[in-house]
Amino acid sequence: MHPRPTTALPGNFPTRRPRRLRQSESMRALVREQHLRADQFIYPLFVSERISAPVAISSMPGQYNWPVAALAAEAERIAATGVRAVLLFGIPEEKDAIGSSSWSPDGGVQQAIKAIKRAVPEMVVMTDVCLCEYTSHGHCGVLLQSGDHILIDNDPSLELLARQAVSHAAAGADVVAPSDMMDGRVGYIRAALDREGLTNTAIMAYSAKYASAFYGPFREAADSTPQVGDRRSYQMDPANGREALREVELDIAEGADILMIKPATLYLDVLARVRDRVDLPLAAYHVSGEYAMLKAAVERGWLDERRAALEALTAIRRAGADLIITYYAPDAALWLSAEQGF
Ligand code: PBG
Repeated sequence: MHPRPTTALPGNFPTRRPRRLRQSESMRALVREQHLRADQFIYPLFVSERISAPVAISSMPGQYNWPVAALAAEAERIAATGVRAVLLFGIPEEKDAIGSSSWSPDGGVQQAIKAIKRAVPEMVVMTDVCLCEYTSHGHCGVLLQSGDHILIDNDPSLELLARQAVSHAAAGADVVAPSDMMDGRVGYIRAALDREGLTNTAIMAYSAKYASAFYGPFREAADSTPQVGDRRSYQMDPANGREALREVELDIAEGADILMIKPATLYLDVLARVRDRVDLPLAAYHVSGEYAMLKAAVERGWLDERRAALEALTAIRRAGADLIITYYAPDAALWLSAEQGF
């Protein structure tokens, strides 16, 4: 027998009952504060100059390295899910000390931009601008000194990054996204784009990009692991939250159009603090390791993939992101459209 109070309730019995608004899915939907939509998603794509058919990325189940020739069909598949933006990464045939293949007018990324725009003209095409995939040493800037003491030369790196950004924009990219974390690169790239008349190309700055262990699967996919040392002299210390605000202020002052925090779910506090301070569009990157962790648990039957992935993405929105860069983009878009209505 369950006890049922029939007489007057004690004075402190709860009269505020939040559960009143949780009783049915329709009621929950009415009071829901955040909604995920396919048009908030940006889908990363790896474009490889080394292959002629898609190659599965083993640590990122469901993701592939794509040859340019396969991208028109892939862009159409992505668009059909409702996702309207992609972020391209290049895996070049040739590497050298300064990453010069990255600004080749007929490089993989440059060709991919054109192929995607031809297949799906309304797709927003963004490109990652960085040197690590293109340099023989795997660092994101010019390597001044190797050995025990890695030294990245900031200012000469800016010129190389700007060449790459201009080349992507000239090929038709809508947005360039510098991920190198060199100081001053947003302003430098903005000036270079403007000088070339590419004033309509937007910049999405990887403003607060942490030196994270969670980029491991990406580096396997993009073949961009540093040959010596690590990225801690340019990417941010995971222990620092306030510093992200300073990075963001600089990127705004230098002309960034969209700001980004990366990774996402371990850095929701950073996202929320930045959201409080800025009114520019704010993106968060749910990175390869965050994706791989979910996939690994799902493969073992330990997590329900749809629920876990949508919960992670919803949390990123709740913390303050407008846009989410996620390997789940097409799947999540399909899950969301299947959920609409009754
Ligand atoms: C290039 C770059 C990286 C990622 C995005 N751009 C790798 C890195 O900085 O080592 C990581 C993305 C991911 O893990 O999904 N600098």
